[in-house]
Amino acid sequence: MGAMPEEIEGVVALLTNPEVTKMGKRSYFTGQINGIDTVVVFSRWGKVAAATTVTTLIHEFKITELLFTGVAGAISPELKIGDIVLGKRLIQHDMDARPLMKQYEIPLLSKTYIESDAAHLEIATKSINTVLENRSLHSVIGTEGLKEFHIVQPKLMVGEIASGDQFFSSNEQKNNLNSQLPDVLCVEMEGAAVAQVCYEYDIPFSIIRTISDVADDNSHIDFPAFIQKISSKYAAEIIKDIFEQM
Ligand code: ADE
Repeated sequence: MGAMPEEIEGVVALLTNPEVTKMGKRSYFTGQINGIDTVVVFSRWGKVAAATTVTTLIHEFKITELLFTGVAGAISPELKIGDIVLGKRLIQHDMDARPLMKQYEIPLLSKTYIESDAAHLEIATKSINTVLENRSLHSVIGTEGLKEFHIVQPKLMVGEIASGDQFFSSNEQKNNLNSQLPDVLCVEMEGAAVAQVCYEYDIPFSIIRTISDVADDNSHIDFPAFIQKISSKYAAEIIKDIFEQM
């Protein structure tokens, strides 16, 4: 699953015997990757779109596990454009029912963070490291593409991801989040919603995010350029390797 067409098109291209089912103004691409029955879909942006898409995947397509690939804005100063973050746990940075609940707590679920599945994390870590170490990104993106985004030696970080219905486009937004939730590595708009639905239905999941921008005053320029030129290639390389391990 991804949030935008550009985030899934490389993965759709991996499907054998592809078919399309339209439902809820979304296109669900079904087929096989490495002999495994697979559904690929983009939800559109935001937590509502993501949650309803995951619910449809569970009820209509009977998925048993979920992989999300997409892009994110860096919050940690250690992250650069082209690095990858694997979500160990997810939080909704815009959830706030104070004074009735603690800030960020999901009402009536008594949870603030949703943890990713340990076995999934292990497989995804291995695959992402394989892709980064084998320099396969260099061959699919090309030296010029990497140079344009100043991607030299992209790295993986495993940790916290924050999600909310906001695109971060200023240092002020970034600094606010960083001071409130100092362990958050990156910000995006769907992961914690995907995680909550998967938690509620006992579906193991991974949220894999490539840094497209550093969530600052330049993010409205960096984000579309990265999405257009690079994001789909990252997703396809990682998903290909994960399916080889399954
Ligand atoms: N996804 C990618 N970049 C983002 C940003 N700056 N804010 C929110 N979501 C994003």
